[in-house]
Amino acid sequence: MLRPGDDAAAVAEAARVLAGGGLVGLPTETVYGLAARADRDEAVAAVFERKGRPSDHPLIVHIADPADATHFTEALPALARRLGEAFWPGPLTVIVPRRPGMAGAAAAGQATIGLRCPSHPVAQALLRAARELGVPGIAAPSANRFGRISPTRAAHVVEEFGDDLLVLDGGECAVGIESAIVDCSRSHPVLLRPGQIGRDRLEAAAGERLREPDDEAPRAPGTLEAHYAPRARLRLMPAGMLNTALQLLGPAEIKLALYSRTVRLPPGARLRFKSMPSRAEDCAHELFAALRELDAQGVDLIWVEEPPPGPEWDGVRDRLQRAAAA
Ligand code: TXA
Ligand code: MG
Repeated sequence: MLRPGDDAAAVAEAARVLAGGGLVGLPTETVYGLAARADRDEAVAAVFERKGRPSDHPLIVHIADPADATHFTEALPALARRLGEAFWPGPLTVIVPRRPGMAGAAAAGQATIGLRCPSHPVAQALLRAARELGVPGIAAPSANRFGRISPTRAAHVVEEFGDDLLVLDGGECAVGIESAIVDCSRSHPVLLRPGQIGRDRLEAAAGERLREPDDEAPRAPGTLEAHYAPRARLRLMPAGMLNTALQLLGPAEIKLALYSRTVRLPPGARLRFKSMPSRAEDCAHELFAALRELDAQGVDLIWVEEPPPGPEWDGVRDRLQRAAAA
C-alpha cells in the first residue's frame, strides 16, 4: 500500500517493517528501491526472490551517514572517501572491500560491497528511523522485476510488485536514472555505471582518471546489455536516419512511437509522439516514466533519437543503449 513519505507515522511503520526483516518500497533521488535490512541475510533473500534477481548479483547498501560506512567496510579507501566527500549524500555508489562476515547476502558473497548515502529526504528519514531500531544499513536494488525499467514514481513500484508492499511515496525521483557506480576496491578506479554525476566531475574529485570496465571488473548486472527494457522493441537512431525512416513509413498501420529531441512528425503521420527534453538532466528525470508511458500505449516499436555527444548525456545514452539491446 502507498503511504505518504512525508508522514512521520508512515516512516516509523516502514522502519519497523524493515527492522522486523520485511520489505519496503523506498524513494531515493535516483529511482525507487526495494529495501530490506542489509545485515540480515533472510531479509535480503526475500528481495532477490521478489525481484526475480539471480542471487549472485550484488545489491547496493544504503547508509544514513557516510560515517556508517564502517559497519560494512573496515576503512573506506582514500579514493572512495574523496568521492564520498564530494558527492554524498547523493547519486553515487562506491564499491569497497567488505567487512568480513557483514552483509554477505547483499554482497552476493563477493569480497566487496556497494555503498551509497542517498540524499532524498524520505530515504534519509527512513534510514535514520531504522538505525534507531538497530538497522545499520538498507540493501535496496531498484524496485523493478529483474531486467525491467527502474521505477521513478511510487505508482511504478505498485505496478511492479502489487499493493501488498508498503511503499513510501516520495514523489517523482529528481534524478531519474540510477546512481553512478565507481569501483574503488582495485588498484585503479573503474566507472562501472554512468549516472547523473558526469565522468569529468567524478575524475576531478577522485584526482585520477576512471577506467572502463574490463574483464577483471566485478560483475554488475546493470552493466549487462539487455537491461532496462520496455516491452516494446526500442531502436536508437541518429536524427538523419530517423527522418529518412519516417519518410519511408508507409500508410499501413504499425504500432509505433517516436521519442525525439529534434525530429518532428511528418504531417499526417499516424504514430505516437513524445518530445524528448533538450537538457540531459530533464531527459534523465523523465526517461523511465516516458518509456513506461509509451509501453502502456501498446506500441510494438519505439524509435528514439540518439542523445547528443557530451559527458552530461552519458547516463541517458547508456540506459537507452541497454534498452535497445534487449
Ligand atoms: O541509484 C541506485 O543505485 C538505485 C537506488 C535504489 O539506490 N539502486 C540500484 O540498484 O540501481 P540495482 O541493484 O538495480 O543496481 C545495483 C548495481 C548492480 O549493477 C550491481 O551489480 C552493482 O550495483 N553492485 C552492487 N554491489 C556490487 C559489488 N560489490 N561489486 C560490483 N557491483 C556491485
Ligand atoms: Mg536495477
